[in-house]
Amino acid sequence: MESEHQTRRQFCRVCTAAGVAAIGGAAAALQACGGGGSPTSPGGGLSAASLPRVSGTVTGGTIQVTIDSASPLAATGALALVTSAAGNVLVARTAADSFVALTATCTHQACQITGYSGQTYVCPCHGSQFDESGRVVNGPATRSLSQYRTQFAGGVLTISG
Ligand code: FES
Repeated sequence: MESEHQTRRQFCRVCTAAGVAAIGGAAAALQACGGGGSPTSPGGGLSAASLPRVSGTVTGGTIQVTIDSASPLAATGALALVTSAAGNVLVARTAADSFVALTATCTHQACQITGYSGQTYVCPCHGSQFDESGRVVNGPATRSLSQYRTQFAGGVLTISG
């Protein structure tokens, strides 16, 4: 119980930090990550598409996402960027009732990850790539993206710390 409580507090802190960054610091962060110019071409020429965006609702320290047949996450194998007042989360549907949720904040210089190529997430700033589980596929990032807990019931995905 104690560790669960601790984890939730950490999750909330991450959400708060991400929320603040999204409101106040996103432009500055993007500028810093891009070195003052436009973002570099990810992966040395890799063309990354923008992740489809899905809105999430913050409820009791969790992010809830309704997934119906029209959702970008309706099919197994789909990737999406869930946006919410508590921050952004990368979500992959790995099976009919199984999802993997990751922080969307890059471990290199904290840019928001918004792109993908195949089953790989791509950071727009310097081209770091991460697999569906958050492991680094291509640098400059060296640390994995942290994972959140997910629960799927009644067509609603709940993401928690
Ligand atoms: Fe540099 Fe993501 S912030 S690769």
